Amino acid sequence: MPGAAARARANIALVKYWGKRDVGLNLPAMSSLSMTLSTLGTTTRVTFDPRLARDELVLDGRPAEEPARARVSCFLDLVRQVSGVRWRASVVSDNSVPTGSGLASSASGFAALALAATRAAGLEAGLPVLASLARRGSGSAPRSLLGGFVALPAGTAPDGSDCVPYQVAPPEHWDLRLVVVLTASGPKVVGSTEGMERTRRTSPYYGAWVKENAQAMQAAVRAIASRNLEMLGRVVEASAFRLHAVAMAADPAVVYWNEATVGVVRRVRSLRDSGLPCWLTMDAGPHVKVLCEAGDADQVARHIGMVPGVLGVILERPGPGAEVLP
Ligand code: PMV
Repeated sequence: MPGAAARARANIALVKYWGKRDVGLNLPAMSSLSMTLSTLGTTTRVTFDPRLARDELVLDGRPAEEPARARVSCFLDLVRQVSGVRWRASVVSDNSVPTGSGLASSASGFAALALAATRAAGLEAGLPVLASLARRGSGSAPRSLLGGFVALPAGTAPDGSDCVPYQVAPPEHWDLRLVVVLTASGPKVVGSTEGMERTRRTSPYYGAWVKENAQAMQAAVRAIASRNLEMLGRVVEASAFRLHAVAMAADPAVVYWNEATVGVVRRVRSLRDSGLPCWLTMDAGPHVKVLCEAGDADQVARHIGMVPGVLGVILERPGPGAEVLP
């Protein structure tokens, strides 16, 4: 059986999801809206092979350890279920994102894996099937299937059939920049699934966080349609701070920030006060991503690169959806 390869880019949520309505099916409790990036991402090749006794995973050039291999193997079980292919597979995956660091490696990873594995199994799966597979790997992964600005509705169907991403605007709609600011190396302190569940169960602010989501989604869609950076920036920053606030209010607290995170937050605010329009967001890790116009990106990156503890900056723009490679 011939193999198949696919590439997907990471995405960064502008309106965040944090909390699940169904942990087994990995269904989000609220909608989210993201920007697919142009360079950071994952390339994955999958080959089903009758000679293999178990699924093999080579990640960034090295045989992967548990639980990474088992997570991919469970995912491949879903692909075997929908395709009828029984064989085990070899998966070779390369990330241009630090794996497991809160830089969305799981989103691009599972989007690329869903596309490559279904093709390798002989399926031409459409978006709903690819999305439901990708989502089982990682809640944010369905968004990486599409390019540009992408919404993922929470949906209400118990089977998740209405949790399918759609494009709000293509990459060329708005030439924004996202300055990705690296503030640590190594894996994140609390996995996102555990962090979300702890937040849902114990944070007294969880109800308010869920309730506020519909309004944030509407405002973000309007801001993107009218290319209004200030309006978008305000929604984006509020969504990030509220996510971290609801998580920090969990018991025990879920805290992803480090010293450099705080330094970057302060610098973004002072840049804005001095007239440079930029807004920040943060995910389940200590890195910060800063949204600005293309013409301001070099200046923003230079100022933020000087904050103590910042290890590097990567400039991203809106990028394409997942693609099958030759
Ligand atoms: O993809 P997951 O299920 O690991 O969750 C990621 C959640 C955030 O990145 C913090 C927010 C989001 O919507 O991407």
